Amino acid sequence: MTIRRRFVQGVRTPPVSRSPIIGLGVRVYADVNRRQLLVRTGLGLAAAGVGGLEEIAAAPHVDVASGWDDVRSQFRVSRSLIHMGGLYLASHPGAVRRAIDRHRRGLDADPVGYLHRNGDRLEANVLRAAGSYLGARPVDVALTDSTTMGLGLLYGGLSLRPGDEIVTSTHDFYATHEALRLAAERGGATVRRAALYRDPARATEEEIVGNLARAIGPNTRVVALTWVHSSTGVMLPVRRMIQGLGRRVSLLVCLDGVHGLGVENETVESLGVDFLVAGCHKWLFGPRGTGLVWGRASAWPAVRPTIPAFSGGSPARDFTPGGFHSFEHRWALAEAFRLHGRIGKARVAARIHSLNRRLKDGLASMSHVTLLTPRSEALSAGIVVFSVDRLSPNAVVSALARRRIVATVTPYTPSHPRLAPGLLNTPGEVDRVLTAIRALR
Ligand SMILES: Cc1ncc(COP(=O)(O)O)c(C=O)c1O
Repeated sequence: MTIRRRFVQGVRTPPVSRSPIIGLGVRVYADVNRRQLLVRTGLGLAAAGVGGLEEIAAAPHVDVASGWDDVRSQFRVSRSLIHMGGLYLASHPGAVRRAIDRHRRGLDADPVGYLHRNGDRLEANVLRAAGSYLGARPVDVALTDSTTMGLGLLYGGLSLRPGDEIVTSTHDFYATHEALRLAAERGGATVRRAALYRDPARATEEEIVGNLARAIGPNTRVVALTWVHSSTGVMLPVRRMIQGLGRRVSLLVCLDGVHGLGVENETVESLGVDFLVAGCHKWLFGPRGTGLVWGRASAWPAVRPTIPAFSGGSPARDFTPGGFHSFEHRWALAEAFRLHGRIGKARVAARIHSLNRRLKDGLASMSHVTLLTPRSEALSAGIVVFSVDRLSPNAVVSALARRRIVATVTPYTPSHPRLAPGLLNTPGEVDRVLTAIRALR
């Protein structure tokens, strides 16, 4: 509960509104069977891999050749802010905003007709764009509303038996820990939390790989990890960790990838995991309220759906929560993948790493600052966690907010100030942040 409250309160920004916690109304279609729903909603096809890309192709071109200013100009983030909170919630880029507007106008004018005429095609666009970004088959992708929803559905859907063990780490986010706790409780399984490193700043790949391998026992069925820890900024050497486990047929490796997606130049195959769960409304700049679960074809049968699906044709489609969604947001997600595709995943990764390197180099040179995130490029991504002598995390974040710098406090114990330089930032902004932190001595 404490963590929940602190998570919501984690951001300190200059006067902008706080996210409301919204109560969701639930409508029950008790006497409508699934087949009727599939027909009525037009969502019944295994749509992945079919349908045109007109919607995405219609998006205006981003002239990346002329530099990062063009990318920055796609966003309406206030020019008076240095926005280093993109790990938290995305601002929508122009292409996403325009797609949302287009679909909203269509739905408002004719909700049933627009959905029936376009629903399959637009969902197929999203799945194809996601598949192309992830290096995955669209039919293996399930769309969700957030990382948290994906983690809850994935871990809650595992068939666990008494005696089975799930191994996770002490560094994971609340949503993973809580989803695992609930899943283990239901199935009579146990959860073991392993510390993968002692001091994040000095963590090594060997230490992490060895600690995970040592935590696995004969009854371990599931390994639940987070690609980039929002507690420390440590990025796990996922592939090496999996190799370190040896390939055990019965072991499922699941990854909360939300802080790697939209940052790193990886595919699901290069990562080597069985399931990748992520929200798309952070680094990826997807519409708020979008996310995905990708599963390896051979791994999907290990998970049972929880929410009745309105689609079918593959295990991922069966796992995709049905019901009507905020379709204009879901369908506009294709634009976020396309934006990253046009910029190029390698360029995105290089840019984010170079901004974070600059920030870490500057912080490491300050005697009143302790850097918690590793300097190693292989063990860090877009998140920089640090502390300032004699100042609480909230005091640091508030002091930065007074200088119009958006930082967040990590929602963990112990908590720390955190900055996330991303594509909306410039090297000059990083230098201004460093000047502000230097002044906190
Ligand atoms: C590692 C990690 N996973 C999941 C989440 C929650 O993501 P979402 O808002 O998409 O549920 C967060 C924080 O927002 C996080 O830091």
